[in-house]
Amino acid sequence: MKLEEPGYFVPMAIPAGNPLTEEGVALGRRLFYDPILSADSSTSCASCHRQELAFTDGRAVSTGLEGRSGTRNAISLANVGYRYKGLFWDGRAASLEEQVTHPITDAREMGNSWEELLRVLNNHPDYPQRFEAAFGPGPVTRSQVERALAQFQRTLISSGSKFDSVLQQKAQFSEQEERGFHLFFDSRADLPMAECGHCHLDPLFTNLAFENNGIEAVHGLEDFPDRGRGRITGRLTDNGKFRVPSLRNVALTAPYMHDGRFRTLKEVVDHYATGGHRAVNKSANVRPLRLNEQHKADLIAFLHTLTDTVFIADPRFSDPFKNKQQ
Ligand code: HEC
Ligand code: HEC
Repeated sequence: MKLEEPGYFVPMAIPAGNPLTEEGVALGRRLFYDPILSADSSTSCASCHRQELAFTDGRAVSTGLEGRSGTRNAISLANVGYRYKGLFWDGRAASLEEQVTHPITDAREMGNSWEELLRVLNNHPDYPQRFEAAFGPGPVTRSQVERALAQFQRTLISSGSKFDSVLQQKAQFSEQEERGFHLFFDSRADLPMAECGHCHLDPLFTNLAFENNGIEAVHGLEDFPDRGRGRITGRLTDNGKFRVPSLRNVALTAPYMHDGRFRTLKEVVDHYATGGHRAVNKSANVRPLRLNEQHKADLIAFLHTLTDTVFIADPRFSDPFKNKQQ
């Protein structure tokens, strides 16, 4: 199966062991929306990754089975197939295949075990034949569940925003959006620099680096309440660094940051305008900016052009249990 990718994205690298097939993607979509993956059949991937919110959940931090609360904000899955430098806010999973086990077995998310999930799937009236269609004969295996979910998630490509239309010269920014664009990318001499484009690089609006953008007030590098990247690498200078999130569909993905601390884009832009809290590992590109209220409103207007209304209504990504014809 061939992915429909826009010409200005670098083509997605698909692992040799998991080529996309129609059957694999359809199976992955079903698994994604099926609460059968959780210990008490209450929670599906889509409980925390809702299509209408660009596959986020609208909460500061996610809530899993039995209302158990996590510590981090759900990440949008739009264009997740292009994030090769480590998944999650701290980059701890190397691939989409490897990522799957985390929510399934996390006590605060789906609380299941592989043994139990494979028992349920192998005794299911319907799943065994769907796995056979995708992966050939034999019992359902853990690797097949991981591969199917990864295949579906690689199809979640978002490139239908107004920003994309402008890039393809099919639409024009308003004057305000245009000013916001130039503020974001430091590209017009009569406007101050907002420095955003260094980290939120187009077309994916992330450079996938781990950075400290100064949201946390700490005395020293040992004091971050969530060490982020530092917990994975063990390096003190990585404490308080998180992966730069994509800003595609950002108007739909509030609240913001790894712990959902900011409720609105205005709060986010106000944070950057001040330059954030001091720390020895804070990026030099996060510094006090010379933005007035008009500049801030312009930046926010530009961020709204990254909303992809086609993506969030695309029937290929919707709940197959609600939409039987699909
Ligand atoms: C209880 C809510 C919850 C459930 C259920 C859940 N997720 Fe997530 N998801 C999250 C949160 C929160 C994060 C960020 C966690 C972190 O970075 O530590 C995340 C991150 C991810 C990421 C990383 C994206 C990136 O850009 O790094 C992927 C991929 C993902 N989830 C896919 C899934 C899949 C597939 C399932 C079902 C098997 C699932 N999620 C179930 C809340 C959830
Ligand atoms: C040094 C790199 C860097 C620069 C420069 C930067 N950001 Fe960020 N941005 C990040 C990181 C890292 C995060 C996540 C931090 C966290 O959650 O702890 C983030 C998070 C965000 C978020 C939250 C997204 C979400 O899904 O939660 C928004 C919105 C955002 N930035 C907008 C901007 C804007 C607008 C600018 C310019 C004024 C900007 N950023 C400049 C690195 C940067």
